[in-house]
Amino acid sequence: MNNMETSSLFSLHSLTSLLIISLSLVEFALADEGFCSMPSVVDTEADSNKPLYWKVTNPTLAPPHLQDLPGFTRSVYKRDHALITPESHVFSPLPEWTNTLGAYLITPAMGSHFVMYFAKMQENSKSGPALKDVERFIFVVQGSVTLTNASGSVHTLMVDSYAYLPPNFQHALECDASATLVVFERRHALLENHISEQIVGSTDKQPLLETPGEVFELRKLLPQSLPYDFNIHIMDFQPGQFLNVKEVHYNQHGLLLLEGQGIYRLGDSWYPVQAGDVIWMAPFVPQWYAALGSTRSRYLLYKDVNMSPL
Ligand SMILES: *[C@@H]1O[C@H](CO)[C@@H](O)[C@H](O)[C@H]1NC(C)=O
Repeated sequence: MNNMETSSLFSLHSLTSLLIISLSLVEFALADEGFCSMPSVVDTEADSNKPLYWKVTNPTLAPPHLQDLPGFTRSVYKRDHALITPESHVFSPLPEWTNTLGAYLITPAMGSHFVMYFAKMQENSKSGPALKDVERFIFVVQGSVTLTNASGSVHTLMVDSYAYLPPNFQHALECDASATLVVFERRHALLENHISEQIVGSTDKQPLLETPGEVFELRKLLPQSLPYDFNIHIMDFQPGQFLNVKEVHYNQHGLLLLEGQGIYRLGDSWYPVQAGDVIWMAPFVPQWYAALGSTRSRYLLYKDVNMSPL
C-alpha cells in the first residue's frame, strides 16, 4: 500500500463510524418520543449564551424597556410647558382627604393659575373640602365614587363621569373600593351676579360641537355661560388626523391623554406621547397635535374662558 491508499482507507473507515454513530443517535431520539419533543436550544437561549456585546446591535426599544431604564424619563419641565409621564408620578397623602393619595401634576409653581392632580382613592376613602373660594372639577378615570351634597342628593360617578363643584360648595366624594380621579381646582374669578352651580354629567351624554376648519371631534363638559371661568374639552382624533391651526393663544391648558398616541409639539420641541401623559401649556406656547398609531386619540383639556386677561 502506498500512502495514498492508506489515507483513503482511513477516510472510509471514519465515514462508516460516523454513519453508525449518527444512526444510533436517530434511534435514541426516536425512542425518546421523536424529534419534535426535543427542546429547542435556540428558543430558550438565555442572554448569558449570547455573544459578548450582542446588545449593541440588538437594542431594546419597546416603551416598557425604556421606562425601566435606570434614570430614564420622558418627562420634561420648561419655562412655558411641561410633559409629565407616568414613571415620574410621586404620590403622597392628600391634605384633608382620608385614605387618598395625590400626585400634583400642574401647580402655580409652574406659572399656572390652577392645579391639576390625580387622586387615588382607596377603600373607605373620602374627599376633603376645596380651599376657600376655590372651585373643583373631578373626572373619573378608574373605579367609581359617590358624590353627596348638602341637600343629601347622591350621584354615583363611574369612569367617564364628572362633576363640577362651585366655590365654597359643601360636598363629599366617597369610595368604598378604589377609584382614580383627575382633579382641577382654581380660585374662582368671581363675576358679580354670575353664580355657578353644581354640574354632574358624563362625556358620552355631551353633544358633538362644530369645529370649523378642524377634523377632530369636540365635546365640552361645562356650560359655556358667563359664570364658568374655565371649561373642560374632550377632543377625539382618528389616527393620522391633526390640528389644522398651529395655536398660539392667551389661554392656559392642562391636558390628560386618555387614549391613543401621537406627537405633541410644544414650542420648538416635538414629543412622542401616549395615554396617561399629562401636559402643561403656558399662555402663548405654540402648540400642535397629530394622532398616530392604530387607535383613536382622546384627550381631556382644561381651558380658562370668559375672563378678560386684564
Ligand atoms: C344637590 O344636588 C341636587 C341634584 O344634583 C341638586 O338638585 C341640589 O340643588 C344640590 N344642592 C345644593 C345645595 O346645591
